[in-house]
Amino acid sequence: MGVVRNLRQVDADAAGVDIAFRADVHAGLAQAQKAVPARWFYDATGSALFEDITALPEYYPTRSETDLLTRHAADIAAAVGPSRAVVELGSGSSTKTPLLLDAIAPAAYVPVDISGDFLRDSARTLATRFDGLPVYPVEADFTQRVDMPREIAAMPKLGFFPGSTIGNMVARTAVDLLRNWREALGEGSLLLIGIDRIKDERVLELAYDDPAGVTAAFNLNLLERINRELNGDIPVENFTHRAVWNGVHARIEMHLVAACDLDFTIDGRDYHMAAGETIHSENSHKYGPRDANLLLRASGWTPVATWDDTDPAFALILAEATEFRSAP
Ligand code: AVJ
Repeated sequence: MGVVRNLRQVDADAAGVDIAFRADVHAGLAQAQKAVPARWFYDATGSALFEDITALPEYYPTRSETDLLTRHAADIAAAVGPSRAVVELGSGSSTKTPLLLDAIAPAAYVPVDISGDFLRDSARTLATRFDGLPVYPVEADFTQRVDMPREIAAMPKLGFFPGSTIGNMVARTAVDLLRNWREALGEGSLLLIGIDRIKDERVLELAYDDPAGVTAAFNLNLLERINRELNGDIPVENFTHRAVWNGVHARIEMHLVAACDLDFTIDGRDYHMAAGETIHSENSHKYGPRDANLLLRASGWTPVATWDDTDPAFALILAEATEFRSAP
């Protein structure tokens, strides 16, 4: 069947630059604590750097999650059942997807990703590997409203949200997103979500500040991307990478730290940063078992099974969009 069609739901300007990227950068740099949303890491360079991160010895989430998918494939398949349309949020290179698709005999595969080039390549690879499986890639920002391909309207659905990407969102945004996807997928749908656990902060900080400097390059690429796409002249060499555990919010924060006082322009607009000032570029929230279940229940998803027996710890949780009942 192969790749059927690419539904593109991204607005770009004449130069091909995502309109939302420009708006987010200027709005974020106008704040007292400068910040740029983490989804803008993933241009072609950033997506490739993230793939390199997943191979680092210190970056355990990908290995732990892959291990869970491999060892518990039969249990997961039994809980999910066959013939569902699998909708993957932030599919990236779709490296974990074959483990799931092999196990569950799906009716269709819908990868949703903001990085169009990556999406097309991985959709083609998947379609070749799973001959006969219809693949409907959707190029879209999954934090926004995404229209599902009409071909899967009548199929029972399984949302697949691996990688602990939900960790990028603060709790209220995470709830908004999970509620929206509950509406988009519909009652009776299932969600298989990867969530990273709270653990020793030294393990966490090393995972986000590796000695080889790959995560630093990934973080700094955000500045390069701004320079490339938004006519910036940010002196990237005057920034350093910082990853730090925030115990109050239970998250790793990544920042880009100005090493000295500096001035730069983006799209002709002037910005100033004092030495030591930072651009907050990512949150990666971690959840204990009850935290994760509460997050899901607060979003209308009832946890039905958890697989989390890895070291370092990581959780795969299967949840169901159950009918809402506010009273006992
Ligand atoms: C892709 C969002 C899951 O938060 O662990 C990896 C991104 N950032 N190293 C994560 C990331 C720095 C990653 N997610």
